[in-house]
This record gives sequence, C-alpha cells and structure tokens, in this order.
Amino acid sequence: MGCCDGGGHRRTALLFLAAAVAACVAAAAAQEPNTDAYFVSGFFSKLGRPAPSSSGASGVCSWPGVSCDGEGRVVAFSAAGMGLAGAIPEDTVGKLARLQALDLSGNRLTALPNDLWELGASLRALNLSGNAIRGALPNNVGNFALLQVLDVSHNAFTGALPQALGSIAGLQVLNASHNQFQGQVPSAVVFGCGNLVAMDLSGNALDGDLPDLSPLRSLAYLNLSGNRLGGSVVGAFQEQLRVIDLCNNRFSGLNFSSGYAGSALVYLDLSGNELLGEFNIAGRFRNLRHVNLAHNQLSNANLLVSMGEISELEYVNLSSTGLHGQIPPQFSSRLVGLKVLDLSRNNISGVVPDMSSLRLRVLDLSVNNLTGEIPVELVKKLASMDRFNFSYNNLTVCASELSPEAFAAAFAKSRNDCPIAVNPDSIKKSRGKRKGMKLALAVVLSLFFSVLGLLCLAVACRRRRKRCDTLPVVKQVSFKEEPAVSGPFAFQADSTTWVADVKVATSVPVVIFEKPLLSFTFADLLAATSNFDRGTLLAEGRFGPVYRGFLPGGIQVAVKVLVHGSVMEDQDAARELERLGRIKHPNLVPLTGYCLAGDQRIAIYEYMENGNLHNLLHDLPLGVQMTEDWSRDTWEDNVDGVATEIITPEGTATWMFRHKIALGAARALAFLHHGCIPQIVHRDVKASSIYFDCAMEPRLSDFGLSMIAGTSIDNDLLHHSPGYTPPEFSISENAMATAKSDVYSFGVVLFELVTGKKPLGDEYPDQKEASLVNWARAMVKANLGSSIIDPKIRDTGLERQMEEALRIAYLCTAELPSKRPAMQQIVGLLKDIEPKVAEQH
Ligand SMILES: *[C@@H]1O[C@H](CO)[C@@H](O)[C@H](O)[C@H]1NC(C)=O
Ligand SMILES: *[C@@H]1O[C@H](CO)[C@@H](O)[C@H](O)[C@H]1NC(C)=O
Ligand SMILES: *[C@@H]1O[C@H](CO)[C@@H](O)[C@H](O)[C@H]1NC(C)=O
Ligand SMILES: *[C@@H]1O[C@H](CO)[C@@H](O)[C@H](O)[C@H]1NC(C)=O
Ligand SMILES: *[C@@H]1O[C@H](CO)[C@@H](O)[C@H](O)[C@H]1NC(C)=O
Ligand SMILES: *[C@@H]1O[C@H](CO)[C@@H](O)[C@H](O)[C@H]1NC(C)=O
Ligand SMILES: *[C@@H]1O[C@H](CO)[C@@H](O)[C@H](O)[C@H]1NC(C)=O
Ligand SMILES: *[C@@H]1O[C@H](CO)[C@@H](O)[C@H](O)[C@H]1NC(C)=O
Ligand SMILES: *[C@@H]1O[C@H](CO)[C@@H](O)[C@H](O)[C@H]1NC(C)=O
Repeated sequence: MGCCDGGGHRRTALLFLAAAVAACVAAAAAQEPNTDAYFVSGFFSKLGRPAPSSSGASGVCSWPGVSCDGEGRVVAFSAAGMGLAGAIPEDTVGKLARLQALDLSGNRLTALPNDLWELGASLRALNLSGNAIRGALPNNVGNFALLQVLDVSHNAFTGALPQALGSIAGLQVLNASHNQFQGQVPSAVVFGCGNLVAMDLSGNALDGDLPDLSPLRSLAYLNLSGNRLGGSVVGAFQEQLRVIDLCNNRFSGLNFSSGYAGSALVYLDLSGNELLGEFNIAGRFRNLRHVNLAHNQLSNANLLVSMGEISELEYVNLSSTGLHGQIPPQFSSRLVGLKVLDLSRNNISGVVPDMSSLRLRVLDLSVNNLTGEIPVELVKKLASMDRFNFSYNNLTVCASELSPEAFAAAFAKSRNDCPIAVNPDSIKKSRGKRKGMKLALAVVLSLFFSVLGLLCLAVACRRRRKRCDTLPVVKQVSFKEEPAVSGPFAFQADSTTWVADVKVATSVPVVIFEKPLLSFTFADLLAATSNFDRGTLLAEGRFGPVYRGFLPGGIQVAVKVLVHGSVMEDQDAARELERLGRIKHPNLVPLTGYCLAGDQRIAIYEYMENGNLHNLLHDLPLGVQMTEDWSRDTWEDNVDGVATEIITPEGTATWMFRHKIALGAARALAFLHHGCIPQIVHRDVKASSIYFDCAMEPRLSDFGLSMIAGTSIDNDLLHHSPGYTPPEFSISENAMATAKSDVYSFGVVLFELVTGKKPLGDEYPDQKEASLVNWARAMVKANLGSSIIDPKIRDTGLERQMEEALRIAYLCTAELPSKRPAMQQIVGLLKDIEPKVAEQH
C-alpha cells in the first residue's frame, strides 16, 4: 500500500471507533440493570444466545417477539420455536412486571424459574407447549389470578394436576395434553374454573371416575382421550359441549339423562373404551358430524336406524361395536354428506344398500354377515374412493375392473361373479374353478408381429410335431459382406425403404435375452437376413418389414424392423424391450432379443413356423402374412422355389382345435389384462395376430408395440384393424383402447372361429350390413346360432358347444364396453365347454 493511502485508512479507523463507542453506549443502556430490556436481553444471554440488536431509540420494544404498552414496558414476549435449551433462567422473564402474554413454546426448555410466579399480577396467557419441562406443576400456578390461557401441553410434567388451578376463575383454555399427569381430573377445576371453554387433558395417565362437569357451563371442547379414566361417561354430556373426545380410556357406563339432547354436539369420540349396553341416540345429536364409537360392546339393534336420522353426519365409525341388524336405507337417502363409513367387525346382516349417491371416501364393511350382490352402481364408485373393504362377508360382486391383488384385498371371501346371460349352468359350474390368475409378472408391452413364417413342410405339419428341437440347423450363409463395410445402410422392403444409421456394423450389439453370452452384432443380423434381402422378407406389417433369419448357432428368428419414428429415447426403448422380453406365457409369442441400430428399433422374435389363424381359417398358405401389399407374385418371390404346396390342414379343421385356439388366445389376453401390472391392453387383437408354434399351440403376438414404435399421437398405430374395431371407436375420435376393447376384438375372432367367415367382405346371408359381427349377433339373437356354424367343423363336435361359443362371442361384442365380460371370465366360460376327443366325428 502506498503512503498516499495512509490518511484515508486512518480516517476509516476513526469512524469505525466512533461507531463502536456509540454501539457500546446503546448496549450499556440496554443492559442498565432492572429494566425490561435488561431482563429480556439477559434471558437470551443466559441461554447462550446473543441479545437482539436494538435499532434506534425505541430499544427493547422493537425487538422481535416483544410488545410494549404506551410507557415502553414489555407486555408480551414470545420466543417460540428458537431451539432454546435448558432451564428458564431466573431474573429474566419472571421479572417483566407488566407481562401479560408469555410464549416460550416449541423449545427444549427443561425447568421453570422460581420467579415465574411473580408474574401473577399481570399474566393472562402462558404457553409452554412443546418443551421438555419435568417435575410437578406447582400449586403456585394458582398465583396467576388473571390467567385465561394456560398451555403446558407436550412436556414431561408428572404428578397430579394442582388443585390450585381451581382458583384461576377466569381460565378459559386449559391444555395439559401429552404429559404424564396422574391422579384424577381435579374437582377443584370443575368447581372453580367456571369460565373454561376448552379443556384438553388428553394423553396423560389420569385415572378415577369422570366428575360431573355440569358446573363448567361454558365448556365447549373436552378432550380426555388416552388416559385411564373409568366409570360412566355421562358426566361429560353437557348440553353446550360441541366436542367430546373420550376415546381410549376405560369408561364402561353410558346412560344419558332423559333431558339431554346434545344439540350442540358436533364431534363425539368414545372409541376404545369398555362401554356396555345401549347407546341411546334416538332423537339426540341432530347436529353431529363426526361419531366414533368403535371398539366397545354396544347392544342396541336400533343404533344404525337412529343414526340414519342424523342428516349432518360426515364420519361414522362403528367398527367392532357388536352391532347387529341391517344397514337401514336412510344411510343412502338421508346422510347425503357422509364421507367415511366404517361398520367393520360387527354382525350386520342383510344386503349392502346402494350408497353410490353419497360422496364416500372410505367405506369399510368388512367382517360382517352381509349377503347378496353389491350394487353395481356402488361398485362403479369404488374407483373414486380412497379406501374400501368388503372382505369376510357372504357377498357377490362384479368388479371386473379391479386387479386380482386389489380384489383379493378388498373382497376376500367374496365371489367375483358378473351376471352373464350365457348358459347359467356353466356359470355355476365354473365358480370354484376360476381361481384367478396367480401370475404376477411385471409389465409389458408388446409387439406386434405381422409376421409369419415360412412353414415347415406339409408333411411335418400334418404330423403335428410336439418337439421343436428337431429343427434343421441351417448352416449360416457365409455372407460375403465384409465386417469392414460401413454404413449408414439402406434397405428396400417391398413398399418401404428404411435406413439403419450405423457406422460400423460390428459395433452395434444385438441383445439376445436367453443367451447373454453370445455376442451378436448388427453384422450378424445382416448376415442372417442376407443383408435384409427381399428374399427373406416375410411380411410388411403395420410397423415395418419383417424378415426371417438364422442367427449363428442355428437360432431361427423373425426380425421385425420398427420403421415408424419413435419419440422414445434409446434408453427407454431398450428398457421397454427388456421388460417385454420378460413377459412369458405359453400363449404369447416370445420376444427373444432386440437391436438398436441408429434410429431403428429391431425386435427379434421366436419364429412361428406354422402361420397364423387368419391364413389357417381362410385357407391361405400358412407361411404367408396377408397384407395389403401381398400378392401372389410376392409370395412366389419370397419362397423362392421352396415347396410352396398350399396347405389345407385337415387336422386343424375340427371344433376341438378351434376351441383350443379360442381358449389359448383368451388365456393370453387374460394374462395381459389381469396378470400384469400395470395392465397391458393389446390394442390389435385379430386373427392374424394369433400364430401357431411348432406344436400348433396358438400364440398371441403384437402386444404394446405401439409404445416402442409409435408416437402417442400416431393414431394409425393405435387403431384397431378393420373389422375388429369396437363401436366406441367409430363414435368418438378420442376413444381410448381399454381391456374391454380387446374383449370386443376377441369376440370377433371367436365369431370367425365358429363361423369360418372373415370379419369384413365375406358373404353374410340374410344380412344387409356387411360385417360378421352384425350378422352373427343378429343370428344368435334370433336363436339361429346353429345355422351359422362353419360347415367344415360342424360334424366334428357337439353343436350346442359351438352355439355356446357363439353366445360368448355375442357377449364379448356387446355395444357397451361395460356389458362385456372380463377376459378372466371368458376363460372360465370357454373352459366350461370342454370338448372331448370322443365327441369328434
Ligand atoms: C402454544 O404454542 C403452540 C406452538 O406455537 C401453538 O400451536 C398453540 O396453539 C399455542 N397455544 C395456545 C393456547 O395458543
Ligand atoms: C393442546 O395442545 C395440543 C398439542 O400442543 C394441541 O394439539 C391441541 O390442539 C391443544 N388443545 C387445545 C384445546 O388447544
Ligand atoms: C384429542 O386429543 C388427541 C391426543 O392429543 C388428539 O389426537 C385428538 O385429535 C383430539 N381430539 C380432538 C377432537 O381434537
Ligand atoms: C340409567 O338411568 C336411569 C334413570 O336415569 C336409571 O333408571 C337406570 O337404572 C340407569 N341404568 C344404568 C345401567 O345405570
Ligand atoms: C375407526 O376407529 C378405529 C378405532 O379408533 C380406528 O382404528 C379405525 O381406523 C377407524 N376407521 C376409520 C375408517 O377411520
Ligand atoms: C349374528 O346375528 C344373528 C342374528 O341376526 C345371530 O343369529 C348370530 O348368533 C349373531 N352372531 C354373532 C357372532 O353374534
Ligand atoms: C348370519 O346371519 C344369519 C341370518 O341372517 C344367521 O343365521 C347366521 O348365524 C349369521 N352368521 C354369523 C356368523 O353370525
Ligand atoms: C351366503 O348367502 C347365500 C345366499 O346369498 C346363502 O344361500 C348361503 O347360505 C350363505 N352362506 C353363509 C355361510 O352364510
Ligand atoms: C380388509 O379387511 C380385512 C379384515 O380386517 C383385512 O385383512 C384386509 O387387509 C383389509 N383390506 C383392505 C384393502 O384394507
């Protein structure tokens, strides 16, 4: 620093000194003994805190938490929630001679000063709530002759409540809750504190009997919960009380005097006592909103009926009170404000009334003796409730929207049965059998495969090989393309061109779930499909081209390129595909792996060699996917001279096989709807989504692919295929695919299976409207079902079983989604048909 700075520096120092001196003078003034400022600042300094700084001349009166009277004397002092710890020091707050309100709540103070009681001449409100003050509350408290509010709640006081409290005639609020006070409710308080408005002694260890509180003529709030009080509760029922909380004590008697009407009472909690006998509320409590009598032994049969007359009720808890009788209809007609109703653990009989008009948030009727069906309207409301429980009754319910877990929790021991207008015999038979699916697989999505495979030879098919490991291991074509080749790679399918923006094909991994040790790359996919040659093209599906290929090691796969742009990040797509790979069901086409090649997501499926249901039903070659682009030429190109004999699989044209397909597809859908969390909606159920594996087991493909391939706005991918679209979609552009829309599409497939007709464009005799659903539904309705059975299968089984299947399809295709059964129920219905081998021919 230079010498020219010296003067300035000195000047600064002088100014600073002057300021410091001024501050000291001010502080000295504050500390002048026996002033209010001295006591307040001493309060903080003795508790190890800096005294508040005084700004300006007004001194202590401007300190936070301090209020003064006109003469500059402190009348209110608050130091709440400051984390102060230790005993309240002597010669501080106790010396504020005009103090009227002292609030030291929410600290960690442990003891009262002896001079506190000197405040008796002025103090009106004392709040010591939420500290750690130990020991007895001394009788000195009686010195506070003017006290109106005393809050010592949430401390560690012990001993009896001092009788001297009774000398505070003006006391309005007494809060001693959450301490360890013992002994009785002091009768001195009852007789002396005639102005008491609120008395909260909850959460202590008080015992003895409850005195008659009638001298407390102003008392509106009484909380004695969580003590050990016994005897009769009647002393508490004074006409003017608005709140009575006596829960969790040992009260045993209740016997209101005949004059008591309880017309001011809004809140009553007597739960958790040992009350015995009749709780007579008839004609009383007309303003009651909240009543909890849970866990007592009440006996009157009329309790529910008289409660149904109290129209203001919002909360009713009569759990475990020994109630019997029925739930009266008044509960749903008069208690329009009811939000919580807990009648659990009683012996209530009769039916569940329709309480759907109430705004219930919580409904617990569990562990009773209720019978019959839960009203449909009420079941619909459940979704909007916070909690409901109907377990352990003798109830029947149709709650098809609930997951099996939610059903098990809220409807234990209830029968899940929707009224279906099919053969009533089969419903009865199917009861115990439908155990619900225990399959607790996680999640999914799915993929759509519009693929199909080239088939095994006709001969092999007829033999219906059960074993799949006899597949010929085709030698990997040693593909001349060199690994050095670099992208981006462009490919031409029949109508689509797609580009894999990959620089080095060997650097892009292919994930195969079951064989994580095999490190395949995009180069292997190139090799497997002869560079995605059109000769290996199986089909062009809705999401993009599908190729057939052999990965090294002879793994035969269908390779599906999801050409449509996706909004999903690579990471998310990979995660979805991984989840998808974990979804396994004997009637679902498994996803074997995937590859993220630049922007393209490539899904790899197990190859389904026996074609799909569409081709089987309509006598198309089993290896070929019907698509808009399909033509005879393509077919010939594709098979490239391999045995192209068109297969008419006689072995498959039987009722038994058709039934097996229906049941398999139903099981797959029931699994997606009810066995997966969150539920998976397929969105594109149709005959060409049902494939046959090498053992001719039906397998559903194409679940959830739109999540990976499509954007949420990309409606094309979310729409059902023509002929399978539920009516709600033609009504509204914005209809959402739900489990019930899958049920509809499944119903169309079921009609196809029985009639052998295509959903659209076939000939439907006697029917103007050109759709299978309209025609078949009209025929079933006219009881002409037997006339529309596919002639190819008519003689291979029992006609009444085929008619039964038509009736199930009829139910599935109901106009209203809510009228359609759930997939689980359809599985049950189809299982009940049970065609026997012997029934064929
Ligand atoms: C006492 O202080 C606590 C915490 O600040 C507050 O919640 C309570 O209402 C006060 N008591 C009274 C009677 O005002
Ligand atoms: C008494 O104090 C407890 C805890 O501080 C509080 O929850 C309760 O509302 C108070 N009671 C009254 C009547 O102020
Ligand atoms: C009564 O006191 C208990 C414990 O302090 C509390 O949980 C309950 O809410 C109080 N009752 C009312 C009606 O305020
Ligand atoms: C209830 O009170 C009535 C009169 O008020 C009395 O006759 C009756 O014996 C009492 N019952 C019990 C169980 O105390
Ligand atoms: C009914 O009261 C009992 C006992 O206080 C309690 O355990 C239960 O949760 C209450 N029910 C509802 C729905 O609040
Ligand atoms: C339930 O009430 C019925 C009559 O409604 C009675 O027969 C039965 O014994 C009662 N059961 C129990 C456990 O109290
Ligand atoms: C259920 O109620 C019926 C009559 O309504 C009765 O016969 C039966 O004993 C009751 N069951 C139980 C467990 O209380
Ligand atoms: C259950 O209710 C049905 C009528 O809905 C009745 O036939 C049956 O006996 C009841 N079962 C029991 C155990 O109460
Ligand atoms: C319904 O009540 C039963 C019997 O008390 C209980 O086991 C079950 O957990 C409850 N379920 C729900 C969803 O609260």
